[in-house]
Amino acid sequence: MNIRCAKPEDLMNMQHCNLLCLPENYQMKYYFYHGLTWPQLSYVAEDDKGNIVGYVLAKMEEPEPNDELRHGHITSLAVKRSYRRLGLAQKLMNQASQAMVECFEAQHVSLHVRKSNRAALNLYTNSLGFKILEIEPKYYADGEDAYSMRRDLTEIAKELDPEKFEISFGQRTKNPVDHIHHDGHCC
Ligand SMILES: CC(C)(COP(=O)(O)OP(=O)(O)OC[C@H]1O[C@@H](n2cnc3c(N)ncnc32)[C@H](O)[C@@H]1OP(=O)(O)O)[C@@H](O)C(=O)NCCC(=O)NCCS
Repeated sequence: MNIRCAKPEDLMNMQHCNLLCLPENYQMKYYFYHGLTWPQLSYVAEDDKGNIVGYVLAKMEEPEPNDELRHGHITSLAVKRSYRRLGLAQKLMNQASQAMVECFEAQHVSLHVRKSNRAALNLYTNSLGFKILEIEPKYYADGEDAYSMRRDLTEIAKELDPEKFEISFGQRTKNPVDHIHHDGHCC
């Protein structure tokens, strides 16, 4: 199983995976909007034959006027049923989050999730450190509420550039370039 940055030719297969896995679907032009505007931020998981078995579709949000803070947003995430519980969603999310920091200096990443989506809620809170910000009533077309969630990206930024965060000597145990994977698509 391989995780890599999504290419324009992957977008149709990402939409196909979305249709199989989620009730929230998007027109093809919305995939292209993401892929062409933020080509560094969306990732796919592929099997040994190159078939796409999971994806994360991500973007940057426009900063509010007078707000210097930049933040990313996860538009959609899915892994095909027979490839679940292998850690793929966690890896896809971490890759997208790291690229948000590296390429756009994002301070946090946000998303929405159905209140009833136990699998995704576990993933976001237990494995990825997201916190619930608020409930958005009737956010989804069928009337279900959403949790609006946010993950602070400071830890990732520290790993990428410890000097910027004035880490006291002794704490820096390994060189970040040794363990952070760069895919060459960034910046
Ligand atoms: C949610 C989803 C993306 C998770 O994908 P995944 O690749 O199976 O997730 P991972 O293997 O990375 O799981 C990491 C952790 O998340 C949690 N988790 C994932 N699936 C879970 C489930 N079905 N039940 C409980 N916890 C779950 C676990 O803590 C898991 O760690 P563990 O396997 O060591 O216990 C996948 O179930 C899916 O595509 N669901 C349908 C689409 C969807 O709901 N997308 C999210 C919309 S907001």
